[in-house]
Amino acid sequence: PTITFIQHDGSPRRIEAHSGQSLMQAAQANLVPGILGDCGGSCSCATCHCYIEGAWAEALPEPAEDERLMLDGALHVLPSSRLACQVVLSEALDGLVVTLPASQL
Ligand code: FES
Repeated sequence: PTITFIQHDGSPRRIEAHSGQSLMQAAQANLVPGILGDCGGSCSCATCHCYIEGAWAEALPEPAEDERLMLDGALHVLPSSRLACQVVLSEALDGLVVTLPASQL
């Protein structure tokens, strides 16, 4: 699937990802700034925090309990907040747009 990351300054970055990858792994593999993924994807750092809005949010499964708990401790949390390591990519998500927070710290 093709994924577009929008940096906090509004600049877009489009990448080609693989089905079965997490959104965090796809961002790291393509050196997308703003997704750190410090814990390696085990849902325990929240440095892969991002926003997924509108119809794309509805296309995803609801966040699991551990994702919700980890987001509680993140900065700049919005109703559209997700952890990129918990979003598994598929062709159904082709065209996904992901917005990045001001900082992951
Ligand atoms: Fe650590 Fe997602 S990479 S919570």
